[in-house]
Amino acid sequence: MKILITRKIPDNAIRILKENGFEIDYRQGEPLSKKDLISGIKDVEAIIAVIPDQIDREIIDSAAKLKIISCYSVGFDNIDYKYAETKKIITTNTPGHLTESVAEHSAGLMLAVARNIVMADYFVRQGKYKFWDPMIFLGPSLNGKTLGIIGMGRIGQHLAKIAHHGFGMKILYSDPVKCSLEKEFGGEFCNLEYVLNNSDFVSLNCLLSPETKHLISHKEFKMMKPTAFLINTSRGAVINENALIDALKNKIIAGAGLDVFEDENIVNPELYKLKNVVLTPHIASATNEARIEMAKIAAENIVDYLIKNQEPKFKVK
Ligand code: DGY
Repeated sequence: MKILITRKIPDNAIRILKENGFEIDYRQGEPLSKKDLISGIKDVEAIIAVIPDQIDREIIDSAAKLKIISCYSVGFDNIDYKYAETKKIITTNTPGHLTESVAEHSAGLMLAVARNIVMADYFVRQGKYKFWDPMIFLGPSLNGKTLGIIGMGRIGQHLAKIAHHGFGMKILYSDPVKCSLEKEFGGEFCNLEYVLNNSDFVSLNCLLSPETKHLISHKEFKMMKPTAFLINTSRGAVINENALIDALKNKIIAGAGLDVFEDENIVNPELYKLKNVVLTPHIASATNEARIEMAKIAAENIVDYLIKNQEPKFKVK
């Protein structure tokens, strides 16, 4: 059986797939163009797809033998998985193993933006640090502040634990369902408006779906405190980015830490001009540990389905 892997991923995935007899078309350069995806997917039974691969109807229709789309990510908003289902193609993802990494990065962005870490680093590198100054780069302490988490899945819960037990923060959260573990991090289940009104930091940890697209827009920024910081390690389109730029420029909120962008091919250059935002290139899950585990799961999802004829552990439903 044949498999297309669209980008370089850790070797353990390749090993597992070769041991199971797969013939691999392994691409390792830039993201594949639509044309290359269409020709590459034509006669394979499986694909390991990464976030830049937009697997839409046209691509699915060109995949004559495809049985499984294995996402090398937790998020699967780049896949028209409902349409794939109608063609008897299943979609899988890699949840669980990047929980800690993404939560740690969210906490890192909170510190980076509130404590001016990136701007201060730049200041030192420019040779501007000549003597200790008690009044430069002041920012709020996290201790005693309130963190509002939107989306209390695995990542949200781990972030809540770090923030509550590590930084001494109070936790508010909104989610479609109340979290059974909220006592572990002193969390209070609220609606979105209450979270936005009362949080000093707001972290987005939900999946992108039609319900969460532009969940945070002009109206929601106005609900936030002018001293609040917004952190996003989920998907860029959960925020209306133009509304965010407006809120940052006009000090409607104090700042933002962003790992994801509405258009990840062309980051809005207006963001580059702002000093109250910290930007990272979608690296929240970029730890050695997470990447290796993700590779293992992405390969095992395929082996379970195509070789062992069993339901993969992480099928998207
Ligand atoms: C995912 O797996 O969806 C993450 O966004 C990757 O960092």
